[in-house]
Amino acid sequence: MTTILVLPGDGIGREVCEAALPALEALRVPLRLEHGDIGWECWRSGGDPVPSRTWEQIARADAVLLGAITSKGKTDAEAELAPRLRGRGLRYVSPVIQLRQRLELFANVRPVSLLAGHRKPFRCCVIRENSEGLYAGLDRRGIPNELRSLLQHPNVERSGRNDVAFSVRLQTRFGLERLFRYGFEYARANGYARVTLADKPNVLRESGQLAADVFHEVGARYSEIRSDVQNVDAVALWLVKRPEELGVIVAENMFGDILSDLAAGVMGGLGVAPSANVGGTTCYFEPVHGSAPTLAGKGRANPSAMFLTISLMLQHLGFTPEAERLESAVRAVIIRGRHVTYDFGGSATTREMADAILDELFTSPAALRASVLCVGDELLRGEIVNSNAAEIGKRLTGAGYDVGLQLACGDQLAPLTRAVESCLGQSDLVVVSGGLGPTSDDRTREAISGAIRRPLEWDAASWDRIVNRLARLGLGADRTNRKQASFPQGAELIPNPNGTAEGFTIRVDKRVLHVLPGPPRECLPMLESILARDPPVAAPRTSYWWRLLGLTEPEVAAATEDMLAPFSRAVEIRYLWRYPYVDVRLDAGPAAGVNEAISSLRERLRPNVVSFEGRSASELLGPALEGNRLEIDDRMAGGRLAGRFSSHAVPGGAGIVRATVSADREFAPPYEGAVTWRCEVESAGSTKRYELRVPHRGPEVVDYGLEFTAWSILRFLEGEEA
Ligand code: NAI
Ligand code: MG
Repeated sequence: MTTILVLPGDGIGREVCEAALPALEALRVPLRLEHGDIGWECWRSGGDPVPSRTWEQIARADAVLLGAITSKGKTDAEAELAPRLRGRGLRYVSPVIQLRQRLELFANVRPVSLLAGHRKPFRCCVIRENSEGLYAGLDRRGIPNELRSLLQHPNVERSGRNDVAFSVRLQTRFGLERLFRYGFEYARANGYARVTLADKPNVLRESGQLAADVFHEVGARYSEIRSDVQNVDAVALWLVKRPEELGVIVAENMFGDILSDLAAGVMGGLGVAPSANVGGTTCYFEPVHGSAPTLAGKGRANPSAMFLTISLMLQHLGFTPEAERLESAVRAVIIRGRHVTYDFGGSATTREMADAILDELFTSPAALRASVLCVGDELLRGEIVNSNAAEIGKRLTGAGYDVGLQLACGDQLAPLTRAVESCLGQSDLVVVSGGLGPTSDDRTREAISGAIRRPLEWDAASWDRIVNRLARLGLGADRTNRKQASFPQGAELIPNPNGTAEGFTIRVDKRVLHVLPGPPRECLPMLESILARDPPVAAPRTSYWWRLLGLTEPEVAAATEDMLAPFSRAVEIRYLWRYPYVDVRLDAGPAAGVNEAISSLRERLRPNVVSFEGRSASELLGPALEGNRLEIDDRMAGGRLAGRFSSHAVPGGAGIVRATVSADREFAPPYEGAVTWRCEVESAGSTKRYELRVPHRGPEVVDYGLEFTAWSILRFLEGEEA
């Protein structure tokens, strides 16, 4: 069986290992884990950060998973050694360097992709040469005699030979060839269409030319992959501006070092950047981050980099489906943003975020995340109420999506393109409505084409349908209609039974984008047909909707949070204050004990629950009366309620229900303190009394009285005790 040696190392390395390793176990990949020691403690107590027993373990392992290692300067390294080891001339050599050299791991692989953010999705990979280049170790102070004739420069004369230092950028055919071969093989295996050598051939003319020559030779054997040589500074710019255009980037040691950290930044920071060191028989995998002493022991480190590192390792070992599941789980947790660490703007601990990822992976994958973008200047100006936003949101929620973002945007091309990118970067599904018309201010199709970088293509069949439809209406197709028949390359069209503009669906990098016309009677039926066609995959969730009377929002929240605290990941809680009611809505995923906790909460809130399906007492009263006549006496409550119950009056009803309502205060200023409502309900000789004390907050307290009275009657009819 494949053996993985886990070396947690120092600082947050230990914390992220502990938090993320359960993923391996739970994915049920046939791997054997062994644990070993490495790092600063080993140096302090034994004089070598990689003890010989660890080397023996490495020799037996198929892959090494490393947390992080603390390295310190020469003085600190000596000072922190155990007293018996000091003064023996022991030299600290970074374990990472030791591993790379002894195991001949010539390539450092750093995949970079957008997990979540206000930009269009991208996926590329920096592969850095690890063994030669500018970090070959040929770095000297002072110019020795034998190199005098070689190292001539006017500044050397000015400084003197001893105040000069130089480094050699060593490029060898051997080293370059194996790096490039690895780069192209990696591109082929991972579906990248482009390999770019990031170098500096215009300045470093000899070493750069050798690299370019070898690169082209190797590239010629991979005819399906586009290969190009670019200046490293230009690649740095692209990584920031247009990473989606890049594929695999190969670079020598120093250029690769810088580019890969830049790429980690573009991806979202050290908290999410994974890496692999490969080439020899045993490879090792580690998050890009170090031991982060300022975070260590505080439970603040983001465990995502470690999860993604494990995913990279699984990919390398051939467990591709498991690797992809793990990566998707990390992405889902980051996109939702409910359980993320400080570096992603949240307050979750390492363990909480890791548990959310593990939950996502095994117990309750969350609903797919959707966003809605409504387009049109008229929406921004309030000339038309943006009802599509609400209606689309409602339908997506009904279909099981988690609507996480809604944007409204005007008709200008640039902001519209950015809005599309932003939605794509933050969701699994995007629904766009509006801007598909024939006029010059309808720019949605262009914006989408620009955002996903796919050209618009003319669709003859669609054009025929447009012409026919207009002809049936006695209209001629105008030149301006022509653009309604062009769609971004790869679009699947969505028929529009109620209008000219056809919609379209585009799939980009695991995201789906549905683009619909703006008029509600066209857009909503189209959306419904799409939703009926492909239902989202999400774990079944149970929803609860309780409407409470007589408790304030903080009181409700305190009780709810108190009882559901252990289930913060499984249950999503929302409150809505609709005077005089407070609504609590729960969406519960599967988790051990969650049903029991919800039942207990329900019992605790029951005295105040008016309905379990989001309806008000006054709405429920009519049907509940079942033909009984209602008589309200509210003289003592100021006589303001009876009229409001007129819709419930049942002429000539079989029985009579009488309710006498009173309030112990006038509905007049000063509005302070509390008011007590009392209601006595009587029918067929039986009488019950109900009471509710509420803040005397303003004239609207009359609404409280109305709902309270209706609720009292309902309880009476249901035989509930006061
Ligand atoms: P670092 O990566 O340990 O930390 C830099 C800063 O990045 C941290 O203070 C924190 O703000 C942030 N950060 C890092 N990891 C994070 C995470 N998982 N979640 C959230 N934020 C995170 O780099 P630094 O401070 O330069 O080095 C600290 C120690 O780590 C040194 O001893 C250094 O030699 C070592 N190191 C080891 C590496 C390795 O094991 N391969 C790589 C880099 C540094
Ligand atoms: Mg670095």
